[in-house]
Amino acid sequence: MTETTTVDRTRLGINDRYPFPAYPNGWFRVAYSKDLAKGDVKALKYFGTDLVVFRDEEGTAHVTDAFCGHLGAHLGHGGKVEGCAIRCPFHAWKWDGKTGSLLDVPYAKRLPRADIKAWPTVELNGIVMVWHHAEDKAPTFEIPLVPETEKDAGYTEPSEHYWKIRSRWLDMNENAVDNVHFKYIHGTPVIPESFPEVRDHILEVKNITKMTTPRGPIEAVLVTIDHGPGFQIVRIDGAIKTVMINTATPIDEHYSDVSFTYAVEDKGGNVGAARIKDLLSQFENDLPVWENKAYFKKPRLCDGDGKFGLYRKWMKQFFSCEW
Ligand code: FES
Ligand SMILES: [Fe+2]
Repeated sequence: MTETTTVDRTRLGINDRYPFPAYPNGWFRVAYSKDLAKGDVKALKYFGTDLVVFRDEEGTAHVTDAFCGHLGAHLGHGGKVEGCAIRCPFHAWKWDGKTGSLLDVPYAKRLPRADIKAWPTVELNGIVMVWHHAEDKAPTFEIPLVPETEKDAGYTEPSEHYWKIRSRWLDMNENAVDNVHFKYIHGTPVIPESFPEVRDHILEVKNITKMTTPRGPIEAVLVTIDHGPGFQIVRIDGAIKTVMINTATPIDEHYSDVSFTYAVEDKGGNVGAARIKDLLSQFENDLPVWENKAYFKKPRLCDGDGKFGLYRKWMKQFFSCEW
């Protein structure tokens, strides 16, 4: 770990609201697969950085820094896919999507040595994800497949929802261990019993709770599994099985792009749609708290509170500096 004494804290996004850097190390969603056809080129802004995502002619998605390494044109505005590369609209320099290296300058006798940053990119669960690391280190873990979202898994077609939220995921996601808030924010009839467990980059929390249904309260088990700071799977087993893929990508030091993908056990009728509507309204109950709360480095807790200490120790592994 690098000491913060040598690092510009403002550049890291350590500000009055948050004592931790804005951009943790991990895998982050930047697009949904269905929104990126072969040959598509899109401008993005995440991690306070201009980026471009494109799908090459073989079907592979690539993410690179947006600005052309020649004179800085934005490749997401007029760039064209050619094979596995992108050609700049300004003077037609061509950049490899996987490595970022310069492949062609149509009017040069000799190619200069130049490249742009190509971000490690994977695509699974219908999501295009990039690896962000503050020191540009290679990925240290992988994102798993979520089989319930595959075709013929017996679940409804995944439904996707987005929010731009004035918060950082590692603050919002303390919810995972905050069993008390389920009662007061989400209206569970009881405070769930919560069993968190850390395995390297994974945080798994099992909550045993009661949920209100039209037929009265029933027991439900809710398991959240975080794979690093940007990707979470939630499975709810109760009257109807539900799986959610939750992602959060920092846009800048103030805002995050949060997406939830829901799939519900397909029991026919509109039970699934009703369940998703209920989960969405529950999520929206969290928003006013998240967008306006302060982050206390040393909160005052009581014996009935969740395992915040365990959560905060786990999340520190995703930063390249002490804080
Ligand atoms: S700025 Fe891209 S080729 Fe010149
Ligand atoms: Fe919540």
